[in-house]
Amino acid sequence: MIDSHGLRRNFLDYFTRLGHEEVPSASLVPGDDPTLLFTNAGMNQFKGVFLGQERRPAARVADVQKCLRVSGKHNDLEEVGGDEHHHTFFEMLGNWSFNDYYKAEAIEFAWNYLTKELSLNKERLWPTVYEQDEETFALWPKVTGISPSKVLKFGAKDNFWEMGEVGPCGPCTEINYDRGPNYGPDYPKSAPNDPHHHRWIEIWNLVFIQYSREADGALTELSERFVDTGMGFERLLALLQGVGGNYRTDLFVPILNHLEALIHGHETIESDPMAFRAISDHVRTLTFGISDGVMPANEGRGYVLRRILRRAARYGRKLGLEEPFLYRLCGDVVGTMGLDYPEIREAAAHVTAVVRAEEESFGVTLDRGLALFHKEKERVQRGGKRVFPADVVFKLYDTFGFPPDLTLLMAQEEGLGVDMAGFERLMEARRKDSRRTVTSTVSYAGPPWRGPEGERRNVFVGYERLRAATKILQIEPEETLPRGEEGWILLAETPFYPEGGGQVYDRGWIEGSGVRARVLEAARKKPGSVVVKVHVESGTLEAGSEVEAVVDKERRLKVQAHHTGTHLLHAALRKILGSHVRQAGSLVAPDRLRFDFNHYQPVTRSELLNIQETVNRWVDGDLPVEVAADVPLEEARQAGAMAFFGEKYGDKVRVVKVPGVGMVLCGGTHMNRTSRVGLMWIYSENGIAAGVRRIEAVCGRGLRERAVALDGRIDRMSRILGGPKDEVEARVEKLTERVRMLEEER
Ligand code: SER
Repeated sequence: MIDSHGLRRNFLDYFTRLGHEEVPSASLVPGDDPTLLFTNAGMNQFKGVFLGQERRPAARVADVQKCLRVSGKHNDLEEVGGDEHHHTFFEMLGNWSFNDYYKAEAIEFAWNYLTKELSLNKERLWPTVYEQDEETFALWPKVTGISPSKVLKFGAKDNFWEMGEVGPCGPCTEINYDRGPNYGPDYPKSAPNDPHHHRWIEIWNLVFIQYSREADGALTELSERFVDTGMGFERLLALLQGVGGNYRTDLFVPILNHLEALIHGHETIESDPMAFRAISDHVRTLTFGISDGVMPANEGRGYVLRRILRRAARYGRKLGLEEPFLYRLCGDVVGTMGLDYPEIREAAAHVTAVVRAEEESFGVTLDRGLALFHKEKERVQRGGKRVFPADVVFKLYDTFGFPPDLTLLMAQEEGLGVDMAGFERLMEARRKDSRRTVTSTVSYAGPPWRGPEGERRNVFVGYERLRAATKILQIEPEETLPRGEEGWILLAETPFYPEGGGQVYDRGWIEGSGVRARVLEAARKKPGSVVVKVHVESGTLEAGSEVEAVVDKERRLKVQAHHTGTHLLHAALRKILGSHVRQAGSLVAPDRLRFDFNHYQPVTRSELLNIQETVNRWVDGDLPVEVAADVPLEEARQAGAMAFFGEKYGDKVRVVKVPGVGMVLCGGTHMNRTSRVGLMWIYSENGIAAGVRRIEAVCGRGLRERAVALDGRIDRMSRILGGPKDEVEARVEKLTERVRMLEEER
């Protein structure tokens, strides 16, 4: 019987034989795509290719992509556990044609794979097509010999696939498998897409991408034609293993067995399939999500993981598990899938520690929250009502950390609804309240660039030079920009570093004959261009004119010292605290650096001094900082370069190496020797979330400025206290003592 590893290989080998290049799964965290929280389909990583913004890796490719469907247009969370074939995390087998083969070959390849390579019974396969796609309707019988009566037509809801609210899309044809009369009676023709019929399961979706859905809802025709297919890996595996459900395949059985053992057999998958399936699903999501760099948090991706973890923890309580247990099951996920996903092997200890810390922290409030829920539920039921009140949902959320979807789920289990609208109103009131008290943080808003993309790339020369004689290619919003105005410009060559990898953008000037503009900001604009925001101080900037672009050197050097310092700090943390330390966030600014990393206890004062000393010894060592551009990604990884979570790397990467210290994939700018970092002072260390610590430090010139400012403060203090500077502490002590005595006398 084929196992999960064997099936992944079999699929990839089949398509390799048909001339496809095998590409690795992209991260679950989509690189640089604000429209998407998590990778939800194999095609996500090729979105730029479909839209003509990125180079295709090959004309035909195939892969096995890890996906999460927990938010946005594709969200299966509520379905999970209720049947054998829904998941939050799943794998998608896919093959793609980038303007190479099209409909006929896509159908032929898929049909042959299922019926010849895997020997599935032809009679059981039922394709569906988009009702307006007569071409595909006619191709099925022609290519495969199937009877036209077995090709069913459906509307856009089922057979027009879209990635999200915006993005590439097109008509699709799906292949459904009829599992036979044991799974349900004979059916009407709507059965394959009817959620109440579990006899037919959709296994493969072939999408013919030819449009892009725009923000205003319009469909734009793409200039090329693409094939994007996605097959449900777990479903196919279940069919081939003949086990009657995804949760009975070798992907899940070890997790479920371990869970049963932890409960000591009181409950089994047969007695509470919902809880067993949901827990085993959720630990896979947690293992892969955290391995790809997401940390449980109160917003964004991190909140999705936190919600999933808390749902799973509550199911655990239902099964009688009083102690943290999910972290133990993460090891089974690594055991079943680590062979094909080295990232979960590498992150295993980290995942376990994060999940455990999260379970422990939720465990503190879980029982009290459950008690509140039960009390309230009984009150509602006694009163003959059917709706759980909003203020209790809010209290459960606010005081006990119950995500509202968890309360909803618990209420539904009791046959109750939840006043979600009321909860949203309470949340809105809370948000308004906190806006009043918290100073808002400035967030980066991209340039309003609407110019033609594709041809108008520019060249970034800011690694080598801080000045460039160049030309203005384009100006937004108008072709000219007069004195006093602000706008965005695209230069043919740009020395300005855009924000990226934690490093802040450059500032500087644009100078030309009779014109001078201040550069306020530089931003990356797809595809591969950097645009700058300017404020014109004199004259008028004109598209097409020759100018001199000048980076503010002093500011850039301060930033660079902090960037090189960040790499040294990261290496020192791993050396002193252990190799589980991974970067979880970073800011590289002119006046400081901020570095977030995973570690499960506060860093002690002596560890901190040790870390600082290690960095400063490397600084004193005057080691070279070597940069190699265009290194093949695989080569860099093999050489041991550290890659960062959530970053999307091309096939060629830039490697920054300090011999004897470490090697990191990094696109930022650096000092050429460690001595130019100057000196590092770590001035703060604290926890920002379960398992995440934050260090703030300052280097080089920034440190000089800080030292001068600090000295000034001591100076002022000594004047207030009336005495020499080196007596400040003694005088403060005396003063405190005197205040204490006076208070006692009173
Ligand atoms: N994009 C399609 C899907 O996700 C086929 O890969 O179903």
